[in-house]
Amino acid sequence: MPSKRKILVTQALPYANGVPHLGHLVGMIQTDIWVRLQKMRGHDCLFVCGSDSHGTPIMIQAEKLGITPEALVNDIKAQQERDFRDFHIDFDNYHTTHSSQNQALVNTLFKRHLEKENIYKRTIKQLYDPVKNMFLPDRYIKGECPRCHAKDQYGDNCEVCGATYSHTEVINPYSVLSGAKPIEKESEHYFFKLQNFETFLKSWTQHGHLQHQVTNKLAEWFKDGLKEWDISRDAPYFGFLIPGETHQYFYVWLDAPVGYMASFKHLCEQRKDIQFDEYWNEDSDVELYHFIGKDIIYFHALFWPAVLHGAAFRTPTAIFVNGFLTIDGQKMSKSRGTFIKARTYLNHLRPEYLRYYLAAKLSDRIEDLDIHFDDFISRVNADLVGKFINIASRSANFITKHFQSKLSAHCAEAALYQSFVVAGEEIAACLEKMEFSQAIRKIMTLADQANQYIDDKKPWALMKNDANREEVQAVCSMGINLFRLLMIYLKPVLPETAREVEHFLNIPPLQWDDIKQPLLNHVIHEFKPLINRVDPKQIEAMKRDEN
Ligand code: MSP
Ligand code: ZN
Repeated sequence: MPSKRKILVTQALPYANGVPHLGHLVGMIQTDIWVRLQKMRGHDCLFVCGSDSHGTPIMIQAEKLGITPEALVNDIKAQQERDFRDFHIDFDNYHTTHSSQNQALVNTLFKRHLEKENIYKRTIKQLYDPVKNMFLPDRYIKGECPRCHAKDQYGDNCEVCGATYSHTEVINPYSVLSGAKPIEKESEHYFFKLQNFETFLKSWTQHGHLQHQVTNKLAEWFKDGLKEWDISRDAPYFGFLIPGETHQYFYVWLDAPVGYMASFKHLCEQRKDIQFDEYWNEDSDVELYHFIGKDIIYFHALFWPAVLHGAAFRTPTAIFVNGFLTIDGQKMSKSRGTFIKARTYLNHLRPEYLRYYLAAKLSDRIEDLDIHFDDFISRVNADLVGKFINIASRSANFITKHFQSKLSAHCAEAALYQSFVVAGEEIAACLEKMEFSQAIRKIMTLADQANQYIDDKKPWALMKNDANREEVQAVCSMGINLFRLLMIYLKPVLPETAREVEHFLNIPPLQWDDIKQPLLNHVIHEFKPLINRVDPKQIEAMKRDEN
């Protein structure tokens, strides 16, 4: 194992205009498992995140609710923190992009690029709502599709025929906000010249920072040519004013990824032992990983490295992309009752069921992933309860009842124990490279072996003859020790169960290195059922709740 690594991890910042749903949890849980693995392996790993608080949708929603955008953002941020915490997502810091740290950093980046002439200003024409008195983003314009003439299509694409077009081509356009016919109006905008970074990006995207699927996707974008990027928005807007301007704001997607740095900065202000520059200077050798969903690749794999590199900050070590969640084979949908909020799930089901189920399905490929609830139930019940927990429940009672809760002084099957230790290194390697489903498969194979061992030894039969007492203790202690190893391997996935097992085994928090030594001559606590079976009724109740 390499010596102690320094790692900073981020997960995409959820928008502060909606509460978390199960889709958000795919990336959150994947990231959290990976971070917990690093921490258990003794590395110095920090995990920061926060709310993405700016932009037109947040402004419009606050207006609808009759509150300030600040109040909306604070409220949603608090809910996000509660929901993620209850799913055991272990952030070192959860901040917001609407913060002093973020504003200062965006200004720095902006100034550096302005000086290098990577950013310039020019006048553009946009559609304007003369009733609301504001410029309209494409999604706030609707009208007739210029190709198939379907009514009520968005300003940039048609959901009926799939055409994409410019808002100027839409027939009979109207503002979604007021119904008024938009007029064309001029204003000055700032543009980031992404083309200036073509050579840098072509090389960066080919050098092991991305999954192959992402590199291939980017190759298509390079073929189409890199285009300059409009990084400003006109007032009214909820965001940061551009320095020196009174009506121009930074576009939300400029300051959003800077929010990763800002959240880290905020952490540095609370913890004097970490230095911002060591992590973000151009020559930093700290590892930096961004975990994101597949819909935001363009922003992270092209804009973001260019924005960082051009302003003399370090670029990410790697960006890791997850696929999208479907439920019972379909896109999450409010009308079908499959749009499940994180809180609704928590009201009915143990968070670790979902953590385990996702872990059992996640790989290093960008594949969409389905929660099929029948499969969810059988997977959790068969693996976690039927295989894993079963090892402890079959062994513990003998130890408690007949041996004053004490494990034997010697490891009965050193070779078997050692084979579990060796498998542990393969499991760690799978988790490290994001092959979670492979890791889980290996762990469950070991669980089968442990159960088989107890089946073969039959402690309940041995117990009938007093002469076998010592062997019963040895077999059951072996069972407990194999269970303990599996708990170590599953701890990144099941942190709550791990806490309960640490209490049951009467030991300090498990670290990965603890696999080397079995627990011998050690007094444990009484075994209490650790994970209950999922009852299909819980799933039905949860789905009913969302309707
Ligand atoms: N605010 C931006 C990210 C800015 S990062 C500097 C955003 N927010 S989001 O709330 O829409 O999404 C947050 C994360 O959740 C993104 O990584 C997104 O891809 C992911 N997902 C949102 N819906 C999802 C599914 N249905 N399935 C899996 N991931 C999903 O994008
Ligand atoms: Zn059409």
